Formats: sequence, structure tokens, C-alpha cells
Amino acid sequence: MEKIKVGIVGLGRLGKVHAENLAENVQGCELVAACSVVQEELDYAVATLGVKETYKDYAEMVKSPTLDAIFIVSPSGFHCEQIQLAMKQGKHVFSEKPIGLDLAEIEETQAIVGRYPDQVFMLGFMRRYDDSYLYAKQLVEAGELGELTLIRCYSIDPSSGMESFVKFAGASDSGGIFMDMSIHDIDLIRWFTKKEVHKVWAIGKNAAYPALDKVGELETGMAMLQLENQGMALLVAGRNCQHGYHVETELIGTKGMLRIAAIPEKNLVSVMNEDGVVRACSQDFPERFREAFVNEAQEFISCIKEKRKPEVSAYDGLQSTKVALACKEAFESNELITIED
Ligand code: NAI
Repeated sequence: MEKIKVGIVGLGRLGKVHAENLAENVQGCELVAACSVVQEELDYAVATLGVKETYKDYAEMVKSPTLDAIFIVSPSGFHCEQIQLAMKQGKHVFSEKPIGLDLAEIEETQAIVGRYPDQVFMLGFMRRYDDSYLYAKQLVEAGELGELTLIRCYSIDPSSGMESFVKFAGASDSGGIFMDMSIHDIDLIRWFTKKEVHKVWAIGKNAAYPALDKVGELETGMAMLQLENQGMALLVAGRNCQHGYHVETELIGTKGMLRIAAIPEKNLVSVMNEDGVVRACSQDFPERFREAFVNEAQEFISCIKEKRKPEVSAYDGLQSTKVALACKEAFESNELITIED
């Protein structure tokens, strides 16, 4: 079978990771086109990845008859519009999380995705494709933990990224810390429990970086969630992790509990020297989730080839966004928010 021809939009922090995977690490596809508003990024795609078509205008790229599929890694506020355009042009679509920032726009996008059942749509919740999360999921499904009662989630970005985050925060809307960081945790909570979130309350504080107040962003946020079956979850989201990139998940059930990456180690090496016993920490998302990003892109391409639907749907995007928006509202109003069905 012919290789699936892919065009990517966005070649920034994550776009480069996906582009390199599609060009080199994913079987059965060819990265043919790239779109970015930054000329140097397009030059890089041609010189380093062998991309044949480059575009500054996304609407032009999706019209290219060469392309079978579009990979969307642009800023979050563009996702809905770009998904809709690509679906209407007959392309298969992978979109990074979140699916969008506005509920009405997401519902419209979900409806348009539903109108093209022969085209694959997949959302980038890559943790579902990480070996450790997959192993934990198997244990949960096998009943090893009994009934899940509480899930505790940490998603904290390295403080090394703070300077550039503050600089660009005004220009590109992240959707706020719960949408930007905790959305993965919200998806995992729904994935592990198969339950929807019913009520949320959230708080937050800017201590080390008061400049975040001016751009309406949070350095550290926390949310308490109640699920439809009275299950509980705690979200800790941050942008000021001094030791690196800290993503940790704990599942507590009636028969046992488990932790994924309780200490976010880089690898299995311990260094013993004058500082004591030192375990290096994973430093960023491309490092921690390297395999997961390859696995999810491979799944997208395999779904196209095998005419199957991926597990992560537009509906998952809608439901997780509802919860993230409710967290934002709870923080801003200091009220307990109930999520309507
Ligand atoms: P970035 O700001 O580093 O890069 C954005 C890219 O989009 C740039 O190449 C820019 O030229 C391009 N772009 C911006 N406006 C455009 C337009 N109108 N038309 C075409 N291209 C345009 O952003 P980053 O950090 O790579 O994030 C991109 C997306 O990926 C976001 O939605 C973010 O939520 C998501 N993301 C997901 C992660 C995960 O863990 N799955 C991790 C990091 C980001």
C-alpha cells in the first residue's frame, strides 16, 4: 500500500518533535508538506526533513491534492478552525490537545468530524500511548486496584521554560493552566475511571513569577474534582518545577494503589559522588514522552491504513475541555462549579 502523505501545521516546540517522527520514526507515512508563519522553520523542514511543499497559509496547504492527512500542532486557539477546514477538504486529521478553547466551537467541530465517518480524526492525548500508563491501565482493567476512589495528578513544567512562556503568553492564548497542563490529567481520569467529572473547585497562586498576573496566567494551580460516582481527583498544575519536568499520577483503589513516575527519573542510572546518590530527572515533555509521541502518530497512520477509528475521539476532546474550563471558572469565581451533561 502507498505511504500516507502528511502535511503538518506548526513547527514550534512540539511541532518539530512530531515532524521528525513523521519523517523518520513512523512507518507507512511520508512527511510531504509543512506550514508555519516562521520562514526559518520552513527552511529547516526542507533542509532537514526533506519536506517538498511549504506554506505560510494553512488554507492553501489543506487544498494540496498530494496530501492524505493533516497533523495540527499550531497554537490551541487555531485547532477547531483548522480541523474543520481539513475535514472539509477530505483529509484525515490529527490534532494536538486541546481540541479547542471554546465549547460552542468544539461542538461545531465535533459535528463536522462526525459528518465524515470515512476520515480518521484523532486527538493528541499521548499519555494513553505511554508504556507506563498502558501498563497501569491493564492493571486497572484486570481489577487489581478494585474500584478507583481517588486519583492524584501532577503536571508541572520546568521553570527553565518560564521566561519564554511569560514572553509569548500574551500573543498565544494557552487557555490557562488547567487547559494547557491539566487537560492530559483530566483525560487520564476519564480514561481510567470511565466516569465523567461532575463538580470542580480550583485555586491558584503566582509566587515566584508575579509577571504572570499581568498575562492572566497561573504559576501553580490546584483543582479538586468530584466524579459522577462520587470518585475523587486532585489536579496539581504548575510551570515552576525547579528539578525538571514532573508528571506523576497516583491511583487509589479499594484493593490497592499505584503510582506512575512518583519520582520523575530520567532513566535507571544512579550517580554516587560528593553530592550523595543522584538520580537525574526528566527535563521536558519531548524527553519524557518520546516513545508515546511516536506511538500515537503510528496509531494515527495505522488507523488510516486499516480503516479503523482511534481510541481518542473528538468527544474526549469536548468532555476534557468542559472540565478544564470549569476549573478556570472555579478559580476565577472562587465558586464550586457543577458541570452540566
Ligand atoms: P509553539 O508556539 O512553539 O509553535 C507554534 C507553531 O505554530 C509555530 O511553528 C508557528 O509558526 C505556527 N503557527 C502559529 N500561527 C500559525 C498560523 N496562523 N498558521 C500556521 N502556523 C502557525 O507552540 P507549541 O508549544 O509547539 O504548541 C503547539 C500546540 O501543541 C498547542 O496546542 C499545545 O497545546 C500543544 N502541545 C501539546 C503538548 C503535549 O504534551 N501533547 C506539549 C506541548 C504543546
